[in-house]
Amino acid sequence: MNVVESVSDVRRIRWQDPRLSWGLAPTLGGLHEGHLSLVRRAKAENDHVGVSLFLNPTQFAPQEDLAKYPSSRKRDLELLEAEGVDLVWAPSVAEVYPPGFQTYVVVEEVTTLLEGASRPTHFRGVTTVVAKILNVFQPTRAYFGQKDAQQMVVLQRMVLDLNFNVQIVVCPTVREPDGLAMSTRNAYLNPAQRQAATVLYRALQAAQAQWKQGVRDAEALCHAMKAVIKKEPLARLDYVSAADPQTLKELQGPVSKALLSLAVYIGSTRLIDNLLLETN
Ligand code: PAJ
Repeated sequence: MNVVESVSDVRRIRWQDPRLSWGLAPTLGGLHEGHLSLVRRAKAENDHVGVSLFLNPTQFAPQEDLAKYPSSRKRDLELLEAEGVDLVWAPSVAEVYPPGFQTYVVVEEVTTLLEGASRPTHFRGVTTVVAKILNVFQPTRAYFGQKDAQQMVVLQRMVLDLNFNVQIVVCPTVREPDGLAMSTRNAYLNPAQRQAATVLYRALQAAQAQWKQGVRDAEALCHAMKAVIKKEPLARLDYVSAADPQTLKELQGPVSKALLSLAVYIGSTRLIDNLLLETN
């Protein structure tokens, strides 16, 4: 496994044989089974697999958890080595954002809603760094998780609007046995909070149960999620949403499909989850 820091090393290794396909999974580090599911899919579908490990400062607001984000470079590299990854790009902040840096990629409407409403500068950081990572690697396919549903919508918009020559592959959310979506931030939770954190998936399941019983009203689905969150004393709701899966606009009245999503604080840890409801 090649572990490199510089852009030029990534390009040299990636283009050693231009006939071979490359799958890429961009990450912030702090790897778990969710990340590894992207790596495995990339490996199955491409000749070579690359992973970026970069704790991207521009997608964190000043009061957020950049400084304490839980990750161990040594452990991340061991996990990636065991998966048979070919190339890891682990750049410094200065390699990605050299002095004088002043160019950003901004996707407009879909970044103002949901996560964008709570974290106004977040997606500008995500799109800028992913644009750079895609430019550096030029992978055949890039792998992202449905766990971050809005990030998927935003990145697909960016790739379409700016004609990136890459196929975006969306991978299903990997969960703990009790339903909690795997997340690097789960490491912040103490045992009582860890148990309470299942409330996100329980809320999604409550709305899904209503859906299966024929409830189609968007507000009723949100209400079902809120009722579950309310019952959990360690949980504080940021938002629940039933939105159009493409535009992310909030739905009203009867719907034929909906992206349910929510953000919940468990103590000071902010967790997100989502579920797509469709009529077959
Ligand atoms: P990070 O949170 O490290 O996640 C990297 C990728 O793993 C994302 O595509 C995310 O959706 C996916 N992922 C995380 N948890 C998952 C789970 N439980 N199941 C399936 N996939 C999961 O998302 C980011 O980093 C950054 O914003 C990044 C795209 C790397 C840009 O900095």
